[in-house]
Amino acid sequence: MNIMSMDIIIIFVFAVICAGLVEGTCPSTCSCGDDSSGSRINCYSKYLGYIPALPNDTYRLDLQYNNITEIDVQLCKEMPQLHTIYISYNLIIEIPKITFADCEQLYFIHLQYNKIRSLESNTFVNMTNLYYLTG
Ligand SMILES: *[C@@H]1O[C@H](CO)[C@@H](O)[C@H](O)[C@H]1NC(C)=O
Ligand SMILES: *[C@@H]1O[C@H](CO)[C@@H](O)[C@H](O)[C@H]1NC(C)=O
Ligand SMILES: *[C@@H]1O[C@H](CO)[C@@H](O)[C@H](O)[C@H]1NC(C)=O
Repeated sequence: MNIMSMDIIIIFVFAVICAGLVEGTCPSTCSCGDDSSGSRINCYSKYLGYIPALPNDTYRLDLQYNNITEIDVQLCKEMPQLHTIYISYNLIIEIPKITFADCEQLYFIHLQYNKIRSLESNTFVNMTNLYYLTG
């Protein structure tokens, strides 16, 4: 094998590793665990002002006691396996209808102790598995 193709292989391996890192890592301020269901992310009381980038296999997400003002991502487009989300004790004012689009797996949403003024009808319409919503 000549030097040239070695270089190409090294670049390729490096690119694969980088892609893996971008794909989803534990935010540095949070603690995370993995099991056969995916990732569990714990960002309880971390002074977060927004939802950080999270692994796409996250199924349990704890964001309680932060200063999050909006849910600015389509949670389940980014995390299709999301099952449980704790986002109580934050500063959320509104929840756009699109927030929970594609959330068929979502089972528990804990939203209490926020500053939500109003909710559009149909916000939770397609969530056939939703079992427990507190707010
Ligand atoms: C949230 O913000 C308030 C006011 O800026 C601050 O006093 C409080 O410690 C913050 N709490 C968290 C958990 O970030
Ligand atoms: C996460 O992203 C990777 C790479 O794009 C993909 O192969 C995997 O299926 C995704 N996982 C989920 C749960 O979406
Ligand atoms: C609910 O699902 C239907 C059918 O897939 C879709 O047309 C509609 O836009 C969805 N509504 C929301 C709020 O996601």
